[in-house]
Amino acid sequence: MSLHTARTAPAEMAADAIVVGVFDGGTLTGPAKEIDEASGGLLSMLVTRKEITGRANETIFLHGPTGISAPLVVALGLGPQTKLTPGVAFRAAGSAAKALAGKERKVVAYFLGEELSAGEKLSQAAAGLIVGSVGQDLYRAEKKLFAPGEVYVQSNDEAALQAGEIVGQAMNLTRELVNTPPDRMYPVSFAERANQVASECGLQCEIWDQAKLEAERCGALLAVAKGSDKEPRLVILRYQGGEESGQALGLIGKGVTFDSGGLSLKPSDSMLTMKCDMAGAATVLGAISAIAKLKLPINVIALMGLVENMTGPAAYKLGDVLTARNGTTIEIHNTDAEGRLVLADVLDVAIDQGATHLIDLATLTGACLVALGLDVAGVMTNNQPWGSDVLEAANRAGELVWQLPMFSEYNELIKSDVADIKNVGQGRWGGAITAAKFLEQFVRDQPWTHIDIAGPAFREKPKAWCDAGGTGELLRTLVEVARMWRP
Ligand code: BES
Ligand code: ZN
Ligand code: ZN
Repeated sequence: MSLHTARTAPAEMAADAIVVGVFDGGTLTGPAKEIDEASGGLLSMLVTRKEITGRANETIFLHGPTGISAPLVVALGLGPQTKLTPGVAFRAAGSAAKALAGKERKVVAYFLGEELSAGEKLSQAAAGLIVGSVGQDLYRAEKKLFAPGEVYVQSNDEAALQAGEIVGQAMNLTRELVNTPPDRMYPVSFAERANQVASECGLQCEIWDQAKLEAERCGALLAVAKGSDKEPRLVILRYQGGEESGQALGLIGKGVTFDSGGLSLKPSDSMLTMKCDMAGAATVLGAISAIAKLKLPINVIALMGLVENMTGPAAYKLGDVLTARNGTTIEIHNTDAEGRLVLADVLDVAIDQGATHLIDLATLTGACLVALGLDVAGVMTNNQPWGSDVLEAANRAGELVWQLPMFSEYNELIKSDVADIKNVGQGRWGGAITAAKFLEQFVRDQPWTHIDIAGPAFREKPKAWCDAGGTGELLRTLVEVARMWRP
């Protein structure tokens, strides 16, 4: 599925369906007004009857309108005109795309109006309709969602349309990796896929296998991998779009391809969705692929720490003391707090590889869900200006994030009696923050921002604009950070 600029007036467009945008309150403007006039007042009649409200993400299907070439018109609610942000555009376009993907359609055309035909709003709408039309039903014979063959979009900004398409495809790559079940998606198969993506996007790719990880003394990451018969991998991708000697953005992803909890075994209900525990790595891979395709003027290093957390005979145990790559000793109090162990070594490698500004993404803690709910990512940083840049990028991208504090008082909670630190906090309080405090031990003095995506990375229930399963959330934020980059 790819996007083209619509070159025909909405009423004459030969498509299986056309979509027109309607603002809250039902004032018809632009293409909606054209369709209303061509159809003898169909839309305004439905607005008067309050069938069409223009509420954000509302999709009203109008079959067989007279005076219109297409047999189906969808009136898409855009919400209040004053609140039409890029994030609103993403969701609205996604909602229309998902509603239309319910049946097989060859050609679909979107006439969302003047405000959505250029710039970041067009980009985000384009991304939304690519994401909205793809479902999680990878292995169902009977699909629920069908991406249309051809999509036309009202646009007077070819670059923004293409950029949105790139970002939408990258989100779908992330979603597909997250949705692929753990019997097929494990460290080696993830690394192979990353290598394939790297060659498609012109990225340098280096893959560290078990022997290399041992030679590099990645003792924390390797300990997590011990309980699995699947070998761990560390994938390092490089995009050189900036100056040779310039600074580099480091994107680090937690890639636990399945988190059983290890010997601190998860109850069955909590384990069911743990194929999502590599979403950080999948998001980082999607983001660097988009940044490369967008040819942004920046140097990026993406690192994905890939392991499976299992209970095999060699599994790491409670009470074990590990030595991380940076020499820090870690006492294990819970083998289910494995993500921070993987990231500890990968953050250290990232800095050695030349990353100067770090962002890690991880489905790290259930505590972050308790604090912020399912839809909001937690942001923690050791450097407020860098953290603020990330928050600003998320706001521009329309993704929901909220900062949690990193007061030094929390450091007490991860001290161990036998080692430098332990891998869980004292007691259960502030669990998202004690996890971040643990990671902070491994970033030296580099500006670093941690994003806990345990909530938004994976949905058990669908939204109007996107199916359940992997979401690709926070990928747009990473791309925006790269766009805003001015080190
Ligand atoms: N992968 C989980 C966190 C998670 C929970 C992700 C729910 C997505 C949805 C992580 O490895 C984990 O199990 N963390 C423990 C840490 C605890 C033992 C200190 C948790 O949050 O319970
Ligand atoms: Zn865990
Ligand atoms: Zn985990």
